[in-house]
Amino acid sequence: MLLQTISEDQLYEVLSVLKRRYEQLFLWGKYISEQQRVKEKAKKDELLRKFKLNDLGDCKRCKLCQTRKNLVFGEGNPAARLMFIGEAPGKEEDEQGKPFVGRAGVLLTKLIEGLGLKRQDIYIANIIKCRPPSNRNPELNEIQSCKPFLLQQIKIIDPKVIVLLGSCSLKSLLGEDKQISKVRGRQFSIHGRMYIPTYHPAYILRNPLIIDLVKEDFRNTMFALRKVQEC
Ligand code: URA
Repeated sequence: MLLQTISEDQLYEVLSVLKRRYEQLFLWGKYISEQQRVKEKAKKDELLRKFKLNDLGDCKRCKLCQTRKNLVFGEGNPAARLMFIGEAPGKEEDEQGKPFVGRAGVLLTKLIEGLGLKRQDIYIANIIKCRPPSNRNPELNEIQSCKPFLLQQIKIIDPKVIVLLGSCSLKSLLGEDKQISKVRGRQFSIHGRMYIPTYHPAYILRNPLIIDLVKEDFRNTMFALRKVQEC
């Protein structure tokens, strides 16, 4: 075998060419995956739009349609990897047709921003899409008539991690009839999706001392998200 010795300068030259090539490939890979995300977002946006229009429509499947002002479908990034699910729209949400825009929503938005995210990065929805009169708890029949629509929304968005805000969300989606204080922060992996229950923002407003626990759950949610994204 012919062994050729190269000088130190030549070696540096080869290494810097390799480094430049590696950086180009890295940027190219990032560009390609960004393009894929844009396409995925546009496709899911259209699917959600059609689903809302054709399947949910001007829903009259339960009595909440008689008292609601607006149906609150959900909003955010249709290709989000992280989704938050609350209980039901309140007065402000009913007025605006958007989830979590009242006092609890302001707090939720701050918690999300504390993670370095914006509301547009994630998706927010509720267990039911119409406001119960005087913000009473949703009834079982209301949850049952709305659930197929939430499940279809989750199927389209296909988030890797879902944060369940409060016990109604926990019970309706996981069937866990447990106090949120007993399960908060735990990670439930079901059919390749991670569910993490924590306190509802409205409960934090009434019990401000628990905010640190919720911040901890939110931070751990980000770790869980990074972990599943690596897989
Ligand atoms: N509480 C919820 O559970 N959802 C909202 O959208 C607002 C308040």
